[in-house]
Amino acid sequence: MTLQVDSLWLPYAQMKTVPSPYRVVRAEGVKLYLDDGTQLIDGISSWWCVIHGYNHPVLNKAVQEQLVKFAHVMLGGLVNDSAIELANTLVRITPSGLNHVFFGDSGSVGVEIALKMAIQFWRNKGFLQKSRFVALRRGYHGDTTGAMSVSDDDEGMHRLFKGVILSQYFVDAPGGDNIESSECQASLNQLDSLLQSNNSEIAALILEPVFQGAGGFRFYPPEYLFQARKLCDKYEVLLIFDEVATGFGRTGTLFAADHASVTPDIMVLSKALTGGYFGLSATIATNQIYESFLGDDPELAFMHGPTFMGNAVACAAALASIKLIETENYLSKIKVIEQILRQEIQGLEGTSLCDARVLGAIGVLEFECPSNLMGLKEFALNRGVWLRPYGKWLYTMPPYVIDENDLRQITSVMKEWVSYQNKRI
Ligand SMILES: Cc1ncc(COP(=O)(O)O)c(C=O)c1O
Repeated sequence: MTLQVDSLWLPYAQMKTVPSPYRVVRAEGVKLYLDDGTQLIDGISSWWCVIHGYNHPVLNKAVQEQLVKFAHVMLGGLVNDSAIELANTLVRITPSGLNHVFFGDSGSVGVEIALKMAIQFWRNKGFLQKSRFVALRRGYHGDTTGAMSVSDDDEGMHRLFKGVILSQYFVDAPGGDNIESSECQASLNQLDSLLQSNNSEIAALILEPVFQGAGGFRFYPPEYLFQARKLCDKYEVLLIFDEVATGFGRTGTLFAADHASVTPDIMVLSKALTGGYFGLSATIATNQIYESFLGDDPELAFMHGPTFMGNAVACAAALASIKLIETENYLSKIKVIEQILRQEIQGLEGTSLCDARVLGAIGVLEFECPSNLMGLKEFALNRGVWLRPYGKWLYTMPPYVIDENDLRQITSVMKEWVSYQNKRI
């Protein structure tokens, strides 16, 4: 059925030419069911958040139990048990030292909260100039203006806004296999000299640890985080980890920070936080950050409070999601996914294919240019798989509950596309 979507403005789309979207009428496990009877294995977990698959009985039950009590109460002056329990749980499972949880409603808002918190931390301590940020090239942190400002302003999707929104500092993205790589060393050297010259006006370094998502689907050595932490400490600049995409197992450890045992000053979580059921973010700060907001002067307080922060249903879903991750040993499921992805696509070669890489439950094929992926979505659809390439990257980030056959179905479509490219030349 062709859909009339004029009244529905779709994301990241030229509405004049966008192909009609596919209509999902049911979703169960890793499968999406379309109105024409097509069944699709979801290879990207609805933008990386539906980690337990769709319509999960445990999450459904948790949501229903909360719903019969109430869906939402404001967090100003009132509180709900799910929000309290979730805050305690997040403090328990995130890197040690992160002790205070501020809820928001999406990844972008979680990032905005982190940026605002970092600026006010310094203001509360009397450093009024420290209000700018350093970020990594190829980084992506969201679509709101503060988050856009720390996303790559040359190659990123928001480059149109360069010079219009806040201007921040950037250093080259790290890369390579280890910390000695030229990319890591160049990035650290740039960071060192940038912080040395400008630390009086820099509030924080913000980065996506280990895996840069929408800015290039790139991995970099975890030791970089350790070195970045040292430089931030040396030059008195805060460190913010945006774990919106990496949080909850995606890179093979519960949080990407765990690869390097580094604690940031502020960490942002969202996406998989509720198992993909609701929008919710958590911006989590250390005691040092939190305590700078305490005092007798009302001006010291953090003046922030999204209407839906701590939404009880979203928090109940998040609690059930984390319980599943812990009780069903998801990290071992992710290990199996990683092994299969490595067997199937790591190091794959082909025409126009520049790189094939894997980390945790992430498999990426990088092509020369976006035109190498034209028609891929329909190609995959005809083979029962939902994939949505971005730019020149064809990637899979499947739900962690995927079984071996379904995962191999996804990778076989990716490999078939590479063979198809070989034949097209
Ligand atoms: C690392 C990172 N930060 C922030 C965001 C923004 O999250 P949201 O789309 O929930 O606003 C994303 C979304 O892809 C992301 O990957």
